[in-house]
Amino acid sequence: MLTEKDGGVALVTVNRPQVLNALNREVLLKLRKVLEELESSPDIRVVIITGAGDKSFVAGADIAGMVEMTPDDAREFSRLGHETFGFIDAMTKPVIAAINGYALGGGLELALACDIRVAAENARLGQPEVGLGIIPGFGGTQRLSRLVGPGRAKDLILTGRTVTAGEALSMGLVEYVVPQGEALSFARRVASQILEKSPSAVTRAKSAINRGLDIPLEQGLRLEEEEFSLCFSHPDQKEGMRAFLEKRKPRY
Ligand code: CAA
Repeated sequence: MLTEKDGGVALVTVNRPQVLNALNREVLLKLRKVLEELESSPDIRVVIITGAGDKSFVAGADIAGMVEMTPDDAREFSRLGHETFGFIDAMTKPVIAAINGYALGGGLELALACDIRVAAENARLGQPEVGLGIIPGFGGTQRLSRLVGPGRAKDLILTGRTVTAGEALSMGLVEYVVPQGEALSFARRVASQILEKSPSAVTRAKSAINRGLDIPLEQGLRLEEEEFSLCFSHPDQKEGMRAFLEKRKPRY
């Protein structure tokens, strides 16, 4: 795992290019540790996750490491994936996936846990697990249907087919498609737009959206009321609105 910090943005690179950045237990533990450090670093406001090399974001969980697993080992591995990716959901800072190639199985599940996905044109995305005699185990059966709807999730998961970046964009599986080699630079541009905004409002917005996904609409709207009201107890609200009225840029 490589981490670079630059002007409020941390770049985390999953670094096992010899196996297309496949995720084993050790990589998941390192990823979790790095993300915990970034969550508690006051100088970091946005995190970008990408994969080493120009071929793959993450080609899934490590198949060589899973082949001899018992059901108990598999449960523990799945739980580790859930905890690691669940931490991304729970982070107060936005996390952007710069998908620079294959995002398959656990790799797509990692991207699904991120807040915004930028895919390079050469990216290929899918949940091929049923072809290996298993199902997605790092959140795919749950997060994919929440993002693109149950019909599309079932199509992808039951056929195990891989989609191009363009098809992923058309189904809402990624938010942007950019030329090959530019996923990271584009993700940095998205990050810089977020950096100009109120950090506390960005955190509240992420949290309200994520928490709202799991509750009925009426409860979600009550949650929004509460979060909207709490924004007015933070100095960023006065600064943002005064700056608008004074025709200047806000200082956050
Ligand atoms: N686990 C372990 N090793 C992997 C891997 C994975 N998920 N993906 C690729 N590799 C390894 C290959 O075994 C190969 O190693 P060797 O050089 O030692 O043979 C190396 O990475 C390069 O891969 P390929 O030679 O296969 O490269 P390619 O360009 O021919 O194909 C690919 C690329 C289509 C991505 C192909 O590697 C592939 O299909 N990978 C597996 C994708 C997959 O099935 N992912 C889901 C895993 S299961 C999962 O993720 C479960 C879960 O939800 C938790």
